[in-house]
Amino acid sequence: MRRSRPLLLLLLLLLLAPPATAKAAHRPAGDGVVISQADYQGLQAIRHDLADPYGFLRSWNDSGLTACSGAWAGIKCVLGSVVAITLPWRGLGGTLSQRGLGQLTRLRRLSLHDNAIAGPIPASLGFLPDLRGVYLFNNRFSGAVPASIGGCLALQSFDASNNRLTGAIPPAVANSTKLIRLNLSRNALSDEIPAEVAASASLLVLDLSYNNLSGPIPDAFAPSTKSPSKLLNKESITGTYQLVFLSLAHNSLDGPIPESLAKLTKLQDLDLSGNNLNGTIPAELGNLTATLHSFNVSYNNLSGSVPPSLARKFGEPAFTGNILLCGYSASTPCPASPSPAPSEPASPAEESRGRRKFSTKELTLIIAGIVVGVLILLLLCCLLLCFLTRKRSSSGTAAGARSGKQQVAKDAAGARAAAAGRGEKPGSGAAEVESGGDVGGKLVHFDGPLAFTADDLLCATAEIMGKSTYGTVYKATLEDGSLVAVKRLREKITKGHKDFEAEAAVLGRIRHPNLLALRAYYLGPKGEKLLVFDYMPKGSLTSFLHARAPNTPVDWATRMTIAKGTARGLAYLHDDMSIVHGNLTASNVLLDEQCNPKISDFGLSRLMTTAANSNVLAAAGALGYRAPELSKLKKANAKTDVYSLGVIILELLTGKTPAESTNGMDLPQWVASIVKEEWTSEVFDLELMRDAAAGPVGDELMDTLKLALHCVDPAPSVRPEAREVLRQLEQIRPGSDGGAGPSEEGAGEHVPAAPAGDDE
Ligand SMILES: *[C@@H]1O[C@H](CO)[C@@H](O)[C@H](O)[C@H]1NC(C)=O
Ligand SMILES: *[C@@H]1O[C@H](CO)[C@@H](O)[C@H](O)[C@H]1NC(C)=O
Ligand SMILES: *[C@@H]1O[C@H](CO)[C@@H](O)[C@H](O)[C@H]1NC(C)=O
Ligand SMILES: *[C@@H]1O[C@H](CO)[C@@H](O)[C@H](O)[C@H]1NC(C)=O
Ligand SMILES: *[C@@H]1O[C@H](CO)[C@@H](O)[C@H](O)[C@H]1NC(C)=O
Ligand SMILES: *[C@@H]1O[C@H](CO)[C@@H](O)[C@H](O)[C@H]1NC(C)=O
Ligand SMILES: *[C@@H]1O[C@H](CO)[C@@H](O)[C@H](O)[C@H]1NC(C)=O
Ligand SMILES: *[C@@H]1O[C@H](CO)[C@@H](O)[C@H](O)[C@H]1NC(C)=O
Repeated sequence: MRRSRPLLLLLLLLLLAPPATAKAAHRPAGDGVVISQADYQGLQAIRHDLADPYGFLRSWNDSGLTACSGAWAGIKCVLGSVVAITLPWRGLGGTLSQRGLGQLTRLRRLSLHDNAIAGPIPASLGFLPDLRGVYLFNNRFSGAVPASIGGCLALQSFDASNNRLTGAIPPAVANSTKLIRLNLSRNALSDEIPAEVAASASLLVLDLSYNNLSGPIPDAFAPSTKSPSKLLNKESITGTYQLVFLSLAHNSLDGPIPESLAKLTKLQDLDLSGNNLNGTIPAELGNLTATLHSFNVSYNNLSGSVPPSLARKFGEPAFTGNILLCGYSASTPCPASPSPAPSEPASPAEESRGRRKFSTKELTLIIAGIVVGVLILLLLCCLLLCFLTRKRSSSGTAAGARSGKQQVAKDAAGARAAAAGRGEKPGSGAAEVESGGDVGGKLVHFDGPLAFTADDLLCATAEIMGKSTYGTVYKATLEDGSLVAVKRLREKITKGHKDFEAEAAVLGRIRHPNLLALRAYYLGPKGEKLLVFDYMPKGSLTSFLHARAPNTPVDWATRMTIAKGTARGLAYLHDDMSIVHGNLTASNVLLDEQCNPKISDFGLSRLMTTAANSNVLAAAGALGYRAPELSKLKKANAKTDVYSLGVIILELLTGKTPAESTNGMDLPQWVASIVKEEWTSEVFDLELMRDAAAGPVGDELMDTLKLALHCVDPAPSVRPEAREVLRQLEQIRPGSDGGAGPSEEGAGEHVPAAPAGDDE
């Protein structure tokens, strides 16, 4: 009924004004279709009720013929219907027209955040069947959250945080079976949290913090096993729904922490701080420790002991302000617990606490003992090795004679002094050869600050850092305390001495701030091959991103630095050195103290036999960095490297490991599928969404995402060159353009590369 009148008007318009439509067909912007009368009236009503002190809506002036041609600020249409209103940061006041909004029946996105709009959130939103995203945060909306939004079956994201909303959260919001992000934080909502919301089969992010919610937290959290919606006929993206972010902090919730929270096995952030929760922390929550990035139950009225794994990972700041809680720090030991059956007769609490303390001390002593023991053993091994090699060479084996080109120094001290002398004036790029001295091998130094002898190297204390197809990497501490990374190559798969040395000489000359420098190599008398590199204190990008301490987010600027540096290193490798990496993965991107990336393992394939290299390719494939065409091609090229670079950038954007597949899709496929579904904001790492909320990061994320998807295009010819990737990344520049520009969009609400609605 409601729509019949505008429809009639539209028909009239079409009948009476054919020249207008014909003219519109030649319009350069938009899709050439004049706005429907219903939508035009809707926009007029919205315009009427909004206050526009800065005149941003002045372009909404003519009879509406240009509304869909791109002339009206913030309006996007498809086939004469408005699909998006995007007017954040425009200083708009007034109210949002209930009637006007209800007439925009094809609206997909409503973005009016960061204005000063007051009055209620129109219930007519609930009658917009295509609505996907509603972004009203940072305004002055009051009244209740309209229950009608439960009728928006396409709704994915609803953010009305930081307004003045009151009343209860309507259980019907959980009717939206595609709703994945609900943020009602920083309002004055009251009453209990509806169990339906906790049990939602679609929500990934639920933020209800800073409200006046009371009553218990519903014990209704459950992973969804069934498809969240029959309407969502894309089998591929069902079944992944499960809260990853839950904040109920700073409300007046009481009662216990529900055990069903432990079912949320994908939960990364849980904040229940600042409530009146009582009872114990369920032991089952300890099971979530591995996936949780942040956890906070401070300032409640919790009691009992903290699950040890949570205590260990999150420590005191996550638990303070609960006077009856124990076991989360050294100063809050729990009284003797009844569980560990003591063999001694029962003792008073005080005595048992003393005993407990003593046993931890004992434990430290035991651990210290073990550590010292291991160190001594290591030292002995090292001495033994030195002794043996020395003995062998002094007995004049054939090995020493075989490498006859070298002058064999008579004593180690001489060799060391010689090397040290050379170290003071490093040659300009020329390799310096040191005879292996009394150990019978050959050490070749390249340009760099390191000065050590073969003896120093072989007698360094070393610990294993990792293993790969090519060999084992050690962190070695030289006599003077400096650290180097030593890669011991597998002898069987390296090329013969002559080829090896020729190739190593090439690699040793490569110097670039984003490429890990090869400082030296050592050839042992029995064919051992060691490569010496700079040691990178922050380890690999893989561990930096995925094996982090809790509450240590990696911000966007850092991720961008890493993406750019990696692209720069790869571009240099391709363009200036004509080297294909062939095994570019996040574990081959190492980080220095300032998080500058340095690509490692480049050119190593040149030192190896062909068989070894196909193994490496296979391994990279398993880790998700391998271009699809490599399964046939067998030989890496610049385009397959760019694919790997694209995967690394996606990894930085999503925080996901490429090794894990989601619903049988690899990371590039998964991202592409989500972008196609217009869920784009959902692919980004939640940590980045927080950055985005604070500034103009959103567009940078989108642009970077587009670029990365370009790099992982299944068709190699479409992928850009590494140099081009670098150029485009440099244009994106995090932090530029300030936050003031009214054209900036806010957090997490970006439609993907294709404008909303071109799939119709
Ligand atoms: C409407 O606004 C646009 C942009 O502000 C302006 O160029 C145009 O002249 C205006 N048209 C009328 C009829 O006022
Ligand atoms: C939500 O679902 C419930 C039960 O299915 C139904 O009674 C209610 O009318 C629905 N509300 C809305 C707004 O769709
Ligand atoms: C929810 O909104 C608040 C206020 O706008 C914001 O600070 C918070 O980061 C948002 N939560 C999530 C999970 O995005
Ligand atoms: C919060 O709710 C309680 C009742 O549940 C009420 O007494 C109190 O005034 C409310 N506080 C605010 C700030 O709305
Ligand atoms: C928690 O508090 C409620 C009232 O707020 C009380 O009825 C209940 O007994 C308390 N539970 C525990 C374990 O203290
Ligand atoms: C979770 O933790 C509880 C108690 O700590 C334990 O009994 C249970 O087996 C764990 N469940 C899983 C799936 O690990
Ligand atoms: C905390 O809980 C205890 C019992 O569980 C109760 O006696 C006490 O009053 C509560 N304190 C607060 C501040 O709610
Ligand atoms: C936990 O929450 C409290 C209160 O909201 C806050 O002061 C504290 O900084 C938080 N701790 C951590 C580790 O985030």
